[in-house]
Amino acid sequence: MASSTAGPTRNVAVLLAGGVGSRVGLDIPKQLIKVAGKTILEHTLGILHSHPQVDEVLILMSPGHLDPVREIVRTGGYDKVVGILEGGATRSETSLKALEAIGDPDALVLLHDAVRPLLSHRIIGECFTALAEHEAVDVAIPSADTIIEVDEHDVIRAIPPRASLRRGQTPQAFRVGTIARAYELAMADPDFVATDDCSVVLKYLPEVPITVVRGDERNMKVTEPIDVYLADKLFQLTVQDQPEGHSDEEYAAALTGKTMVVFGGSYGIGGDIADLAERNGARVFRFSRSSTGTHVERREEIVKARDAVLAETGRIDFVVNTAGVLPRGDLLETSEETIWAATEINYLAPVFIAQAFHEALRATSGSLLLFTSSSYTRGRAGYSLYSSAKAAVVNLTQALADEWAGVQVRVNCINPERTGTPMRTKAFGEEPADSLLSSDAVARTSLDVLLGEQTGQIIDVRRDDPLATLLEQG
Ligand code: CTP
Repeated sequence: MASSTAGPTRNVAVLLAGGVGSRVGLDIPKQLIKVAGKTILEHTLGILHSHPQVDEVLILMSPGHLDPVREIVRTGGYDKVVGILEGGATRSETSLKALEAIGDPDALVLLHDAVRPLLSHRIIGECFTALAEHEAVDVAIPSADTIIEVDEHDVIRAIPPRASLRRGQTPQAFRVGTIARAYELAMADPDFVATDDCSVVLKYLPEVPITVVRGDERNMKVTEPIDVYLADKLFQLTVQDQPEGHSDEEYAAALTGKTMVVFGGSYGIGGDIADLAERNGARVFRFSRSSTGTHVERREEIVKARDAVLAETGRIDFVVNTAGVLPRGDLLETSEETIWAATEINYLAPVFIAQAFHEALRATSGSLLLFTSSSYTRGRAGYSLYSSAKAAVVNLTQALADEWAGVQVRVNCINPERTGTPMRTKAFGEEPADSLLSSDAVARTSLDVLLGEQTGQIIDVRRDDPLATLLEQG
């Protein structure tokens, strides 16, 4: 895989998993605890592995626990993994073992805590970019808390000004020759102690500037028992990364010769996705109640649609379902007919579509895209049927992504902010255009997700990301 840094460097991501997690205090290393359906280690591995600039992954695991890692690597098809080795007695020893295993001083290395499973691709990319100019890179975020320095009696010794303080995270990235030299000097120092790798460079190679890449609040380290719970909750909330944008040329290259099926494709977001894909060379088949008389909630009509497409093109690469209804009103006043219709269209349709298209998507290592609504995170009065079905779609997306990861079928879900669509206008009447997201913007992101490598992700599409803006200002 081509690297974006100059020259043919080898980019190695190291997963530091040599610890036991005594503060979490379970009888397995904390990196083997399952959160959001997967071990923490596998989440982290998946993120590193799927980054296009990572060429190789090296895993350093606590002694006595290598078998579960071998099993994860084998069943998950993580073919960039070049080694699974035993970690050392301290984190520094583990890093050192990794550096010895890599050997090549010209390689670029990214050392990452296995117990930070919410790392984003943005951070990985920015670390590699920074390595083009620097030999050492740290990742850090501003500190919301005031940091105090205390003496051995817990009496404050100093309160450094918060504005110049950051909280260090991982990954930390280096030219291998640089970090290896720092460790060589450290090993000759009988008083050497460190809890991270940048401090080794700072202490033993003070002439080497260490640049800092903006980290992320989400990139937390699972350290205390409560962090397991917090990490699990964070996984439920939206995606780490916005998908990578594509130029029209890239769309054309990725879509030419491919087949897309869009349910709900006659207007609104579905229509715009279909138009965009078609303009860029895909063969697109649209099904909807109004155009083809297709009822997404009827399995036999989904199967019929699929068979018709296969008969014509022999392949299906992308399946999108934007069909939905937005019933409003208190549940007590909702008719039997509305209850069935809303639940069937909003929830059962994605289930049927998933079942009906699995085989075809498997044949092309294809991608399924579903839609949720921001109401999925909390049920709202007046929207009981809608928000509960949309929550179910999120859960379905995550479950299917896991079930289908082994066969390389990706399943993701878009969560568009208030979008100007006919469904919305029908429910809420005309609203000021600048308060709504354009359906075309949602379509572009949808296509980016369909073409990207992510799976199991719930992708927020907003006019602007308030959290990112705040962090930017941090
Ligand atoms: N780590 C490592 N080798 C060690 C110790 C730690 O690779 N000998 C790794 C951990 O597996 C973890 C990361 O370094 O991914 C951060 O360390 P920390 O949170 O301190 O992990 P533990 O040492 O496992 O935790 P504890 O201190 O609670 O025992």
